[in-house]
Amino acid sequence: MAADGFAPLAFTPQVEAETQALWERVKKHVTPMEWRLQAPLIAEINRIKREKNAVILAHNYMTPEIFHGVGDYVGDSLGLAKEAARSDAAIIIQAGVHFMAETSKILSPDKRVLIPDLRAGCSLASSITGEDVRLIKARYPGIPVVTYVNTTADVKAETDVCCTSANAVQVVEHVAKEWGVDRVILIPDEFLARNVARQTDVKIIAWQGRCEVHERFEAQDILDLKAAYPGAQVLAHPECPAEVLEVSDFAGSTAAMNDYVLSKKPRQVILITECSMADNVAVDAVDTEFLRPCNLCPHMKRISLENIYEALIKEQYEVFVDPEIADRARLAVQRMIDLPPPAVPARYDLVKARHHVDVELI
Ligand code: 13P
Ligand code: SF4
Repeated sequence: MAADGFAPLAFTPQVEAETQALWERVKKHVTPMEWRLQAPLIAEINRIKREKNAVILAHNYMTPEIFHGVGDYVGDSLGLAKEAARSDAAIIIQAGVHFMAETSKILSPDKRVLIPDLRAGCSLASSITGEDVRLIKARYPGIPVVTYVNTTADVKAETDVCCTSANAVQVVEHVAKEWGVDRVILIPDEFLARNVARQTDVKIIAWQGRCEVHERFEAQDILDLKAAYPGAQVLAHPECPAEVLEVSDFAGSTAAMNDYVLSKKPRQVILITECSMADNVAVDAVDTEFLRPCNLCPHMKRISLENIYEALIKEQYEVFVDPEIADRARLAVQRMIDLPPPAVPARYDLVKARHHVDVELI
């Protein structure tokens, strides 16, 4: 069905021809009936993008028709933030959640940043406010604050350096060295903080925020899957509890999981993360079988081809960040972007992680 208020778009021979190459890539994962509805929207979105000098930044948790069909830049939170900083498009459409759109606006204040559904939030971003961070700083004077990008702009404005799951260990170690301290505040994801604490000698002070998608996985789920599929490789996101990572074969950001599957080509793989991740990697990982014990992110799933189309036509919903807050938040995000790439590719050393390290919870 077409977006509200728009006539349905037809699957014409021209649309079929324009989308043929994409159909060849995705046809094992999309039914012909779905394609007849999706292809006209994909063709039209791509045409309007060119006309309006717009780009679509699509997170790895977008559904395949968005990720493969209309995403100009696809990747993890770090990759999308870097792209927002270097893009010269007039309009950025964020196919992701609100904190990602705010990050794009912070990095590109002169561009129009649109999110197709303003309700696309995040349980981590809503777990903490700028006022909370001011209170934390008053309680721990002199201890630097590292904040996960999954936060609102006012939280980033109170932050020394931002991080993502792809570089959290590197950022924490860099900040401890630069500030000459042995403790760092790493907020708001408690599980990411616990997983980082197991990779470094820097002591971690953590907040009790959780990702509602990854907190639901349990170590027993993984052990049951390993018993059922002894040859399968288990890849977990570091927003999962530490016990889940302990029984996995690899842990990393969504981009690191993608690289692992495409480079190592495991025969069977289990991605312990959001459901669309496996659907997207499966399009290119033709030799790998994906077992799918996934959880859906209700916020990511608010974004659809229909509301992207509507966002482009009506140029809605524009994301604004108070310029004074944006200026302070930009410093924290830019310090992260300016860090050199780690000497070894960012990954969580699961052997090291088996040694339990406690964190101080605020
Ligand atoms: P990354 O893509 O940075 O791994 O983040 C995962 C996530 O949950 C984003 O909301
Ligand atoms: Fe937030 Fe988790 Fe959804 Fe990512 S997957 S947007 S961290 S709730």
